[in-house]
Parts: sequence; structure tokens; C-alpha cells
Amino acid sequence: MAQHARTLLNFNKEWKFYYADTTDLNMEYNQAGFNDAHWRSLDLPHDYSIEQAFNKNAPATADGGALPGGIGWYRKTFTLSQAVAHKQTYIEFEGVYRNSEVWINDHYLGLRPNGFISFQYDITPYLKYGNEKNVIAVKVDNAKQPNSRWYSGSGIYRNVWLITTNQVAVDHWGTYITSSNISDQSATISVNTHIKNILHQPKAISLTTILLDAAGKVVGKKTSVVSDSIIHQDLIVNHPILWSIEKPYLYKAISQVTIDGKLTDEYTTTYGIRFFNFDADKGFSLNGKPTKILGVCNHHDLGSLGAAFNVHAAERQLKILKEMGCNAIRTSHNPPAPELLDLCDKMGFIVMDEAFDMWAQFKAVQFGYYLNWPQWHKKDLEDQIIRDRNHPSVMIWSIGNEVSEQTRESGGMIAKELAAIIRALDTTRPLVTANDAPDTSNKIIKYGGLDLVGYNYHHKDWSKFQQRYPGKKNIITESVSALETRGYYQMPSDSLYYWPDETKNGKKVNATMNSDHTVSAYDQVRAPWASTHEESWKELKKYDFLSGMFIWTGFDYLGEPTPYGWPSRSSYFGIIDLAGFPKDVYYMYQSEWTSKPVLHLFPHWNWNQGQLVDVWAYYNNADEVELFLNGKSLGIRKKNREDLHVMWRLPFEPGTLKAVSRLKGKTVLIREIKTAGKPVKVQLLADKKQMKADGVDLVFITAKVVDGHGNTVPQADNLIHFKINGEALLAGVDNGNPVSLEPFKANDRKLFNGLALAIIQAKQKAGKVTVTASSNGLTSSSIELEIH
Ligand code: GAL
Repeated sequence: MAQHARTLLNFNKEWKFYYADTTDLNMEYNQAGFNDAHWRSLDLPHDYSIEQAFNKNAPATADGGALPGGIGWYRKTFTLSQAVAHKQTYIEFEGVYRNSEVWINDHYLGLRPNGFISFQYDITPYLKYGNEKNVIAVKVDNAKQPNSRWYSGSGIYRNVWLITTNQVAVDHWGTYITSSNISDQSATISVNTHIKNILHQPKAISLTTILLDAAGKVVGKKTSVVSDSIIHQDLIVNHPILWSIEKPYLYKAISQVTIDGKLTDEYTTTYGIRFFNFDADKGFSLNGKPTKILGVCNHHDLGSLGAAFNVHAAERQLKILKEMGCNAIRTSHNPPAPELLDLCDKMGFIVMDEAFDMWAQFKAVQFGYYLNWPQWHKKDLEDQIIRDRNHPSVMIWSIGNEVSEQTRESGGMIAKELAAIIRALDTTRPLVTANDAPDTSNKIIKYGGLDLVGYNYHHKDWSKFQQRYPGKKNIITESVSALETRGYYQMPSDSLYYWPDETKNGKKVNATMNSDHTVSAYDQVRAPWASTHEESWKELKKYDFLSGMFIWTGFDYLGEPTPYGWPSRSSYFGIIDLAGFPKDVYYMYQSEWTSKPVLHLFPHWNWNQGQLVDVWAYYNNADEVELFLNGKSLGIRKKNREDLHVMWRLPFEPGTLKAVSRLKGKTVLIREIKTAGKPVKVQLLADKKQMKADGVDLVFITAKVVDGHGNTVPQADNLIHFKINGEALLAGVDNGNPVSLEPFKANDRKLFNGLALAIIQAKQKAGKVTVTASSNGLTSSSIELEIH
């Protein structure tokens, strides 16, 4: 360990875990001397809810994912070299759900109720060095449920770090970097650096900030005498390369602290140079270029991995969204894992970083955050802003989602207080609340002190925004909430439904839904307050003054199984299912939001002889599509005016369905779907073939079955057994079925509408790994992965 350097040690490995009964109040678990030898050994991040069985009576309810919460204890024993005895040592938790309490060597460090915030403790005064052991104990209490409107997960579900610095160092989240006067010629980079100095004698301390471009070339440098705890420096970067969605260019600032000329700390901040604007008439622009915010809302769970954060799983989600043409993420309704923001910086997503789903007033869940509001909201909000304010991707702070205060006088007062908290820390981003009551009686909007008016839903009112709120800027903070089960189709596809209830003759009545808890994947079902995908998108694209929207949701998530309840336990809202398989409507967005040629034909072609089937195509870059069944043309269709898809209705006959898209008579794309026979063979597809031996890397393997001619069998539900040979483990299995009560931590999974997923996680050893998938009566298949 270099004498000058700070160290950042990943502290995820080798913890002990005990799942305590809620009546087990043994307070020895926090004591350093407690013998935890019989506790389970595990590595973090860890979610102790996801590994349990679904349960109808789970206090979280099906809205919370129907998985148990409860109390979990974690302990870690470690030693520290004598060489760091004179240093400052901190432990940082990126997220613990929830009510964490932490002890080190029998000293109580503190409580943190908020399950989504990152926090750190100074453990220096309590540490032992050399051969003596240190014990850190963490109690996680997620017993009182429901406390969330969606699946929360439980435990130390994000990374933990051990940080060591010298006595003079850049403080925790200690830099704040903004840029101004941005032109082709130059940009002013303003850096505020917070220095923590616990030296007792005065010394000559200085701070040098070095700006590096993406290639590591120095593009700016400034040295200042450290005479105060905050140092302000302005640097000029010539010919700056701007951060954008298409080219997310990142710079680095290296903060070097020296004492009497000797380096004592080095701290790196990644930042980007960009400017953006919301305009009441022209909507949003990035670096001067008009840009619609084409966003999705996501919750934090990663499907079968639960809340346990994994950067590769998050990256996969973002890749799938990027391919769709999505350019923005709303971290609904809480601060995300910090690595998610790093990914958004790197991959080019705009982020609406959200703080709260409720304020001081009760909302929906008995044990929700409103109970912690009085003591914690200021600290939680400040920490989120300080942690996240250097990310170029973050462009909006949302201070609340559909809070009960929208209709109360306190709404304006709290909004004012929260706005002041943020503006004391960052003035470079607009503030918004997501309002499901966005009419002029809304007390938060009426207060007028926020920068954007946020609409949740109400797509029929969007066109009137300028009349309702003259001169105001907007963002559709949440939209759509359409419902779909991947691979399930209900005819006729042009009938529209509101589920679970609809209005008939002015009266609300329960809708007749499907007894097997399916929802058609033709974009034809939406929640009563919501719209189909097509309805909202048609509206949004019409008006320049609408800055953009965040669709509910990009990915299905655990919990909130609207329109159903138990045994459904995950959402139907996603454009992409819980396993990461796109539903058909994904391609509607891709055809509208990207310029790459799209022709998506559906449904599958396995029906009953003579049955009337609706065939849809989403397409772009073409002026017509012709459909053929067994070589016979069924006619040409063209999208008229606002259309987003074309359709043919025809009686089923087995064979080959083929669609050809053409532009001015020239073929652009051809798609074929064949009637499949009985399954004979399992087929595997891996998203990559190589992994790092870091214990974290993941490969996502899709399993399906094919008939004797290699045609995918679309509705297959065969049980697939996965077997791993070599140094890797099965981190989770899934199939995207919101009604499945099969465990996620298992070696087998039924296909659901033809697909299943196995997530393979590297261990820490290089070598070859073989994943084999077998199924009763079928030919097995295997795939080789290389770990290095
Ligand atoms: C919204 C809410 C989301 C989710 C969604 C489902 O009102 O903000 O969290 O519940 O409804 O449609």
C-alpha cells in the first residue's frame, strides 16, 4: 500500500449471515465476542428475501412480491495491518434494506432506516491492528411490512467498501464539478473540493486538480493553497468534447492533496461536459440539439437476482433498452445503486434521479417511509444529492412520486423545503414532482417553486398543457402502464380493455379477466388510469412542447401484479419481461425510436386449423409490408397517418408466414415464422462466451426448444434442468411468467411461452465451464464458457 494513497477495498467477501426469527431478540449477535461459526458464509451483495419461497401470506403482500422480509444479521471478521494504524478508516454501505444498525468491536455506529440511501461510518477510533481481530456486525430489520409498494428485497443488497485515507484527504463524496460557458472553443470547469483535515498542527497543504480527457491526456491543471475546508477552482478546457446520448464522452478530475509538497491523497471524479435546457415551447434540448426524452421507469430489482445488485445485470438491462432506442431512465422511486449512474454516464442515458415515494403523509403502506420522514428526510435527500451531483447523466431531480401532499396545504411547504435543501447543494438541474393529480388544484404545482411540471398519466390532457400552465416547462414523469404477458395473445386484437376495472354506463365494474392470470401481448390492455403504449406515444410525438416521457416500465419487476393478485407476484407493466425477454411492443418503440431497419412480425404460427388470427407487424424505413401464407399473398398493408402497426386477419392454416417490408418497391427486410411441430431438442444461446474470474461477472443463457426442423416451439413449457461443470454457479433462473411460484434459486425452470433464462456467475478461478440443459425426452444441449 503506497504511503500516500487512499485505498478503496471491496468489502463484499466472506460475511457470516443469520436469518433471525422476528421473536429472536438475542442481542449478543452484535457483540464482537459472539461465536458465529455456525452461521452461513456468503458474499455480498445479498438479498435474503429472494432466496425464500413465495408465500400467499407474506406480510409484504403480492404487491411487495409475496416474499418474506424479516430480520437478517451479518457479521464480518477482519484484520488490518499495523501499517494503517495511523490512517483514517471508513466503512461505506451503498444500500441496506432497511433499518440497518451497525456495530464495530462493540461500538454502536448508528441506524439508517432508509433502504436506498448510501452511507458511511468513520470506524477509526474503534479499530485494532496487527493480529487482533475486528468484528463488524450489521442488523437489518425488514420485519415490519408492508413498507413498500413494490418488492424491496432485504439485506445488504449493494456493495460495501472499506476506505482508508491519510489525516488530510478529500472528504467523503468530496468533490462537486460543474461546467459553464460551454462552446466549441472552451468550457469552464468549476471544482469545489471538500478537504477533511484532522491534523492538530498547522501544515502547508495544497490541492492540485488535474483534468484528464478520455485518453488520459492532461487538459487542465490548477494548484491552490488549502486554507479552508472547501476549495474552489476554475479551470478551462479547450475544445471540449461534449457528453451526449450518442457519444457519452467522459473526463476525469484527479484531486491531489499535498502536505509540505508530499502527496497525501489522490481522489478521482468522473464527469462530463454538457448543457441542456427545458423550454416551454420547444421542449428539451441537449447541447443545443432538440431531443425528446424517450425514457422508462424502472424499479431496482434485477429479476431473479432480486435486489442484490450486480453491475453486469444492470448493464444488460441498459443494453436492451439502448437497443430499443430508449435514452432515459427514471430511478423510480428512490436513489439507485451508484454503479447504475456510472453505467448511465458511460452508456449515454439521461437520468431522472428520484428521492421519495412518500413524504410526511401516509401513502399506501402501513410501515412506509412517512414514519421516518421527520428525522431523516433532510439527511437522506442531502446525501443523495451530494453523492449523485457529479454524474453527467443526471439531469432532473425528482423530489417525490404521487405524494399524498399533492392535495394538502402542506404540499407546497414541503416542496419548498426540499427545493431549498437541493438548491443549497446543486443549482444545475431542474426539480420536479411526479403528480398523478396534475390539475390546477395540485398544491405542489400551485406553490410554483419547482422548475418543471411533472405529469403522471393523463395523456388526454397533455395537448392542453400550455393552456393549463402557460409559460411552464414540463416532463411526463410517468406514462402508459399498459399490461402484457410475453408470448400470450388474445383475439380480436383490436378490442381494448381497462383491467382490473372499467366503467360501464358511468359505473365502475370489475372487468372480466383471464382465470390463468394472462394478459394479451397485443398492446390492448391497460390499467384504468393508464393508456396503451400506442395511445401515449402518438400523443407525445405530436407536440414539440412536451419534453418527453418515462414509460411505466422498461422491465417487469417483482411486486405490483396489476391487474391480478396472488398467485401473480410480479408486474405485467414491462416492455421487457422479468427475465429480460422483450415483449412484442418493444419493437414498436424500436421502429419509432431508432433508425435501424425494423420488421417485427407476430404472433407465433401455432394455432387451430381455421381459427381467425390477427397478424401484426411493427416496421420502419419502409412504405409497405406484404404478408404471405405458404407463398400466397394476403395483401399489402401501409401505416396510415398516425398508425404504429399494420394488421391482417386470416384463418389459420399451418405452414410459413412471411412478411416483406419494402421501400419504393425495394425489399428492406423479410421475416418468416413457421408452424412448429413437437419439441425434440433443447437449444441454448449465451449473451457472451467469456467471463472474468472475479466472482461477479455474469453470462445470461436463454433456453428454448426446437422441433425436428429446428423451428422454435413457441408455447413450450418443458421443464429444463441446468447443470454446470466447472468454476461457476447458477445465480438464478427465470422465465418471465408473473404467475410462476417456482423458486428463482434452483437448477431447473419450466419454459414459459417457449423461453427460460439461466444466469451463470463466475467464481474466482479461471478455466472452462460447461452449461448443459436437459429436458425429459428431448436431446440435451450444452454451451462452453471461458473464465479468465
Ligand atoms: C403509478 C405509480 C407507480 C406504479 C404505477 C402502476 O401511479 O407511480 O409506482 O404504481 O402507478 O401503474
